Amino acid sequence: MKSLFEPESIAVVGASSDSRKIGHIVLNNLIQSKFRGKLYPINPKADEILGLRAYPSLTAIPAEVDQAIVCVPNTLVPSVMEEAGIKGVNSVVVITAGFKELGKEGAILEKRVGEIAKKYGMRVLGPNCMGMMNTHHCMNGTFTNIQPVSGSVAIASQSGAVCSSLLDWSTATGVGFSTFISVGNKVDVDEADLLEYLKDDPNTNVIGMYVEGANRGRELVRQAREASKKKPLIILKSGRTSSGSKAASSHTGALSGSDKVYDAAFRQANAIRVNTIDEMFDLLQVFSNMPLPKGDGLAIVTNAGGHGVMAADACSDHGLTLASFEKETIDKLKGYLPEAANCYNPVDVLGDASADRYEFAIKAVMEDPNVSCVAVLLAPLDTVDISAVASNLATFAGNVDKPVVGAFVGGTKTDAGIKLVQEANIPCYDSPDRAIRSLGAMVRYRKMRDSAGDDAPVVMEGDKQKVREMIDSVLSTGRTSMSESEGKEILRAYGVAVPEEITCATAEEAAAAAARIGFPVVMKIDSPDIAHKSDVGGVKVGVSSEAAVKAEFELMVSKVSARVPGAHINGVTICQMVKGKEVLIGMTRDDQFGPVITFGLGGVFVEIMKDVTQSIAPLTRTNVDTMVRSIRSYAILTGARGGKAADIESLKDVIFRIAQIALDFPEISELEINPVMVGDEGKGTYAVDALVVLRRDN
Ligand code: ACO
Repeated sequence: MKSLFEPESIAVVGASSDSRKIGHIVLNNLIQSKFRGKLYPINPKADEILGLRAYPSLTAIPAEVDQAIVCVPNTLVPSVMEEAGIKGVNSVVVITAGFKELGKEGAILEKRVGEIAKKYGMRVLGPNCMGMMNTHHCMNGTFTNIQPVSGSVAIASQSGAVCSSLLDWSTATGVGFSTFISVGNKVDVDEADLLEYLKDDPNTNVIGMYVEGANRGRELVRQAREASKKKPLIILKSGRTSSGSKAASSHTGALSGSDKVYDAAFRQANAIRVNTIDEMFDLLQVFSNMPLPKGDGLAIVTNAGGHGVMAADACSDHGLTLASFEKETIDKLKGYLPEAANCYNPVDVLGDASADRYEFAIKAVMEDPNVSCVAVLLAPLDTVDISAVASNLATFAGNVDKPVVGAFVGGTKTDAGIKLVQEANIPCYDSPDRAIRSLGAMVRYRKMRDSAGDDAPVVMEGDKQKVREMIDSVLSTGRTSMSESEGKEILRAYGVAVPEEITCATAEEAAAAAARIGFPVVMKIDSPDIAHKSDVGGVKVGVSSEAAVKAEFELMVSKVSARVPGAHINGVTICQMVKGKEVLIGMTRDDQFGPVITFGLGGVFVEIMKDVTQSIAPLTRTNVDTMVRSIRSYAILTGARGGKAADIESLKDVIFRIAQIALDFPEISELEINPVMVGDEGKGTYAVDALVVLRRDN
């Protein structure tokens, strides 16, 4: 990877004297960026290009070549790759388009490029990319001449268009880039590789990524988790994984669409996910220029009460609290500001505030121990000298140990002020919300980073042999869905408690079984063809006599047979009735990320309530704590409105066991327990239902 980021020499294959061609532009950009290593234009028809001696081929160069940038038409790329391999080139950047993005033939060509690279042990960036820049290595190996300011932000983008937007934004705002990587089709180098390198890059303090889809989801999470321990990682994700579009037969499947899986992945990796390019710009600004806040207390200094109130409202949305000032701070403010000013948070320096008044208030609140970050708001009143306030705010750059940001709210009158502040490397926005959201992201990142720890995945024991035999036996009969009783056998084998139950073929057997288990009982239809029993009249709760059991048996079988014609019905299962709070635990398998565990409020309204959360297995204690706490109904589990607290520890234990089953048996494509009954504290958690779907391809 070093040869990609810091090459000692570069050959531009397809360099041209024609200034309109990409090969010419790339070579020219390398020269203009004052690349310090050796540069070799490669062109079979030229002796000299842009003042440099040209060579007909890579192998004709009488010296070692560290990196090759390829700008010849797609059909020529494999032969250039072979030549690069023979020459001993370490890395190749393929700018050329016309590969898998064009369809089948392009994909074959791209595969060939990957194979050649592997054969010679070369790393490849692209194809179909803009190239890469390393401002600290004086290298612009792209075909854009927008040269960003040198700085500490590393950017990797899967889209060339987003690349150019980010570069242009960088030059407009003065936010400096360390490296800039257009990843293209990712035949070899992908985001996970880049994170592995960038996390230790001394010139990079913040990493921003635009991702459309991951090639190696699990590796991306692993590398992102390592990187985010050292520096903030901001990810803008669009697009969907293939598994997201597949129809799923369980609630869990419908509830864990691909985008939610990415959400879970980034959350587990402690990466900050943003949804818009504006948010990406805003966060890069604050993270690259400001120190992390130590707490979540915000001070607001404003010349307009309304903006102050809006900023205060935004606080709770973005995880900040409005700091309450020490008496000393309030006295200090009262001693300097006019009598009409508000000296409590938000501090209102009044409409006629001078730059000095702003400066005094900012310094005073900054010194308050309860304040961890400061937002300076300005409305373009005729009485305010915007450029003076901006110049004053700019003087805080580089000498603050708490983050300070500006929000100059307006348009034509405030633009110049925003620019002036930004050029001094103080983040400045055009709305209070953007300012508060950016500070909130810093607080969130600091909390995530500090609590990340080295939490190891929890491993559970189970009877693997038994489950293996069950899966093989079901698949050998040509089935892929298990019956409820088979599903529960699997759960039992992994130590998940299930209520006592007996499947009965006749009404008489059912009555006898119910008498043995004890009344009341639950009756459930037993059929491998029915996923959601209650939807078709296949569940009856609280049946309390032998006569009632017999009557319900006949009724249930005839009702279900009529509603699901052709369904194979084994009989009716008589179950011990357990009490508790209903939750759902499920698992789906994502193509990129593997087993995704879903937890949430259970019952028949689960898809309406959508109060669920996801995590990718294996799970750590922190992951499961976060899952359980993050649902909206968490208060129900802890005992809301005088209710008893549920046995949350035994619930977590079941989540770990489901994750273990998923990890041990890749043949299980979906698993869902709905409901899981979480008893009162100390009473345990029971799986009342079990839906297990297998796949054949393993
Ligand atoms: N070795 C070295 N040079 C060669 C070789 C070879 N084997 N064969 C040909 N050349 C020379 C050509 O003679 C030519 O030089 P010349 O101008 O002196 O004649 C030069 O290489 C370039 O070859 P051309 O055939 O002229 O190709 P052209 O420059 O028109 O296009 C390119 C090549 C740019 C790679 C094109 O095929 C392409 O892929 N364009 C799209 C690039 C792109 O958009 N990438 C994605 C960016 S990300 C985004 O979305 C913004």
